[in-house]
Amino acid sequence: MKRILIAIDGPAGSGKSTTAELVARRLGYVYIDTGAMYRAMTLKVLNSNVDPADEAAVVELARATSISLVNGGEMRVLLDGNDVTEAIRSEPVTNNVSLVSSYPEVRQLMVAEQRKIGSKKGCVIDGRDIGTVVFPDADLKFYIVADIMERARRRQEELSARGEELPIVQVVRELKERDRKDSTRETSPLRKADGAIEIDTTKLTINEQVEIVLNYVNEVTMGQEEMQKK
Ligand code: DC
Repeated sequence: MKRILIAIDGPAGSGKSTTAELVARRLGYVYIDTGAMYRAMTLKVLNSNVDPADEAAVVELARATSISLVNGGEMRVLLDGNDVTEAIRSEPVTNNVSLVSSYPEVRQLMVAEQRKIGSKKGCVIDGRDIGTVVFPDADLKFYIVADIMERARRRQEELSARGEELPIVQVVRELKERDRKDSTRETSPLRKADGAIEIDTTKLTINEQVEIVLNYVNEVTMGQEEMQKK
């Protein structure tokens, strides 16, 4: 079966990462969670006592930082060689990641790495600017959305599993703030890419989301194989 590149974008809590990871596993593809890379960078900023608002200092730190994603079973995130998979999901990281990821030079560094890993076909990559900027020529592009209340409920559940209990109104407020920052920044804002297939996951189970994406993958890979035969 022909291996393709799948780009998945969408706002926080839309279900894109869960879907992307499961689709990658079902296809035996590499999964790249680009949000995890920006989160790891943000964790480094916070741990280094660098002010996230100090763009020059953040960029300097980013140049001296190594972030890698290790696939195999569950994806692990390594920051300068240390496993930070759980640490990057904390509230302080979540609340500062939009600022850190808005700096063009930080993005350049991350995007270069993402293009390196994704250039080998057989990859599902998710984020905010994958179909628009990182891989505008991806074989398949998705834009995953969901109602704000449903996204907040999912985020609250995720936090609760980590032992962080937050009132739903606070989760809604933080999500809206992140949506605003991620979609209004100057460099590579979150938006639906040309040709992207939109999926609203508000009323879908994870299984249904995965099946919808896999059906499109089947169509594309079969179509490409037919074209090759001609
Ligand atoms: O997918 P996530 O919620 O883990 O992403 C965390 C943040 O990283 C998100 O709020 C914005 C930023 N991000 C980005 O700017 N570009 C990407 N391709 C992925 C994430």
